Amino acid sequence: MIARKCLGLCRHSAPSGRGKLCARTYSTSAKRHPVHPEHLCESVWSRVPKGPMDPILGVTVKFLADSAPNKLNLGVGTYRDENGHSYVLPCVREAEARLHQQDIDHEYTCIGGAERFNNLAASLAFGETSPLILNRQIATVQTLSGTGALHIGADFLKSWLPNLRYIHYSTPTWGNHIPICLGSQLEPKRYRYYDSVNIAIEEDNMLEDLNDAPSSSVIMLQVSAHNPTGIDPSRELWKKISEVCKTKKHLVFFDLAYQGFATGNTDNDAWPIRYFVEQGHLPLVSQSFAKNFGLYGQRVGALHVATANPTEAESVKSQLELIIRPQYSSPPIHGARIVSTILGDPVLKNMWKKDVRHMADQIKNIRQLFVSQLKQAGSTRDWSHITKQIGMFCYTGLKEEECRDLAELYHIYMTLDGRASIPGISKNTVGYLADSIAKVTHYQ
Ligand code: LMR
Repeated sequence: MIARKCLGLCRHSAPSGRGKLCARTYSTSAKRHPVHPEHLCESVWSRVPKGPMDPILGVTVKFLADSAPNKLNLGVGTYRDENGHSYVLPCVREAEARLHQQDIDHEYTCIGGAERFNNLAASLAFGETSPLILNRQIATVQTLSGTGALHIGADFLKSWLPNLRYIHYSTPTWGNHIPICLGSQLEPKRYRYYDSVNIAIEEDNMLEDLNDAPSSSVIMLQVSAHNPTGIDPSRELWKKISEVCKTKKHLVFFDLAYQGFATGNTDNDAWPIRYFVEQGHLPLVSQSFAKNFGLYGQRVGALHVATANPTEAESVKSQLELIIRPQYSSPPIHGARIVSTILGDPVLKNMWKKDVRHMADQIKNIRQLFVSQLKQAGSTRDWSHITKQIGMFCYTGLKEEECRDLAELYHIYMTLDGRASIPGISKNTVGYLADSIAKVTHYQ
């Protein structure tokens, strides 16, 4: 028998209420639970309230809990094959087979990830012949997908720009941008972006807001296939955005989560980054390989910080590593190996480009099918924006109560802002979806 002290908040010793630490000593066998039965301690977590569900990933939780056979998940952005099943890219299958043949180990990688992966990732974003790459001006670290890159980037900004208070985001923006920003003790500010009446960008308002932001602000810009609106700036608008950001000395933070999903061509989709670099910007870039390699659960991404020279790049990288080390020590290796195997081999890289084009084309086909099925279902609403928007998401314009009705009455799940993940729709389910939408919108 050994003597132990109760370390909980104990009702026994604090009859009037909670909050007093009980220091009563009791005996127990080392093998038994250390709490004496008549001396049950209230958990220190008793006042922790249940948090709200994540607006995007919470949709999957609700979907999984639904036992209806015809249920449909249009919440999280994941590509599905034409039968609605999860899709492993053929180039990924091939890379995995090659890795399987090799005698790979499971040693830790470096804090900032493997150099080969980092170089290949930077080339994909900035272009192989980018002067920033040739002059070794980019500090790159592998991250836990795009979310990890945004988070490490925000922590880095907070650490090294002590007067920085805000990051500026489009209205609307990806649901996780704001919590990431707040998590790094920065506040989100909004610039106007989406004109829901004309399904276009409010160009003048956007430029005005960027111009009105205090000099040297941090501006988050999604590079391609804007989440959630599916509307990207034209090249003319990108040029104007670059000009304003340059004049105001804003620091641009690009979010590159869907490279290839907008046009089907990965170079075209990275054009804004390359143009901004040509114009003299030194942006940060968060890069995700979740969507364009289908490596969702592998959590593979990168953060790039463009700097003025190689010495600066080295210093910045060392500071990024100091941020990473206490958080998760070093990144996981398998997903990064798959990406390196593909991007480092011309044949596999070519195969990957075709795989990306295939996914982008399929998404366009589903958009068209969706619109024609809505008409067929008798809906009189103008759904032409579905084919005007690009990338993974359709900002349907469905109201919150219509989304709730879809879930409750028809087992169709999407985020309550009316965002639907287009590849979640297949030719087998599009008819049911269109009929259900026509019903919840009362054919209007
Ligand atoms: C999405 O917006 O659905 C994806 O980026 C996945 C996520 O983590 O939110």
